[in-house]
Amino acid sequence: MIIVTGGAGFIGSNFVRQWLANESDGVVNLDKLSYAGNLQSLADVAGNPRYRFVHGDIGDRKLVDALLAEVKPRAIVNFAAESHVDRSIHGADEFIATNVVGTFHLLEATRGYVASLTPEARTSFRFLHVSTDEVYGSLNMDDPAFTEEHAYQPNSPYSASKAASDHLVRAHHHTYGLPVLTTNCSNNYGPYHFPEKLIPLMITNALAGKNLPVYGDGKNVRDWLYVEDHCHAIRLALAKGRLGETYNIGGRNERNNLEVVHAICDALDQLRPRSDGKSYREQIVFVTDRPGHDRRYAIDATKLENELGWRAQESFESGLRKTIQWYLDNAEWVSGVTSGAYRDWMTKQYGKVAA
Ligand code: NAD
Ligand code: TYD
Repeated sequence: MIIVTGGAGFIGSNFVRQWLANESDGVVNLDKLSYAGNLQSLADVAGNPRYRFVHGDIGDRKLVDALLAEVKPRAIVNFAAESHVDRSIHGADEFIATNVVGTFHLLEATRGYVASLTPEARTSFRFLHVSTDEVYGSLNMDDPAFTEEHAYQPNSPYSASKAASDHLVRAHHHTYGLPVLTTNCSNNYGPYHFPEKLIPLMITNALAGKNLPVYGDGKNVRDWLYVEDHCHAIRLALAKGRLGETYNIGGRNERNNLEVVHAICDALDQLRPRSDGKSYREQIVFVTDRPGHDRRYAIDATKLENELGWRAQESFESGLRKTIQWYLDNAEWVSGVTSGAYRDWMTKQYGKVAA
């Protein structure tokens, strides 16, 4: 067995599905089901005998100790986190509680568990920590992309909390010899993405006839990766990555936000034309910028490509097309996750402009 934390979230649910389809071990999914965790995202695997859901917090030492002793996993993949920059700007308490303190408790529980293993089991055990490129800060337009050697310069409460968790993971390796790997990935997109992040928000707002709120001048650049490609890279790192190393993951797909929103509008114009015959681009509005908004992220994935032989399978165009089609085909999932709490968030963040 392996244990995945945060498996009911966007990337975790895609990872659990991909794991069950490609690997022989079972998966225990430990998730606290925050607003971003949704068991509907795993409804298709819920009955799989190799899958089990456990409702709980990574910071709950008693629960995690007992789970590790019972399951005896050969690996832990830690996705659990608070993940939305805008929410961290409104209040970072939960980000510190889960991303920093929760990760610390998970590491400590894992340390105790690893000490109890036979030397053979200890040698093969892995703790893989899933992190973000946002820990490296912001790039100027002509800067080279982030390598693993780039200094940590987190700018948002979210990225600062992820940076702190990365440092704790590193310290547990250097101080206690915990067999860890860390991956730092660029912006993901794809199915089951909670519609508070740029791409799913734009798709769902467009279809609902709402405004498409672009922050600032729309020229901020992100390096987009289809979620399945990210999950594949994590599986490779788990299987073949060198202990204590970090691997940057990204598909060399830099786009500014306005280019992304235009691409979504143009695809929807073809796939689900507006009834008035106008383009979805008409719904774009420029809104007040995010405070401290990082200008550009870009990943240099050379180490992952050379050491582990990883290559992204999807281009931005093919991945975006699949994603949009998925949202068109899964309106029920969208209405399931856009509950009252979601509507409260939309009003808090966008007010009358796009809520
Ligand atoms: P998400 O917000 O969609 O899902 C997070 C999941 O973690 C949810 O299911 C939530 O219920 C669960 N969770 C939160 N706190 C928990 C706790 N204390 N204990 C147990 N479960 C808890 O996030 P995501 O976009 O799937 O991101 C997953 C991981 O990947 C995060 O660590 C994030 O920092 C990292 N990451 C995300 C991206 C991206 O573009 N989304 C890019 C790079 C790295
Ligand atoms: P987001 O999906 O929140 O990811 P991150 O901030 O972690 O990169 O945002 C991606 C980009 O899109 C970022 O530059 C902020 C911008 N953005 C908007 O312009 N409007 C929006 O409504 C949202 C949610 C994001």
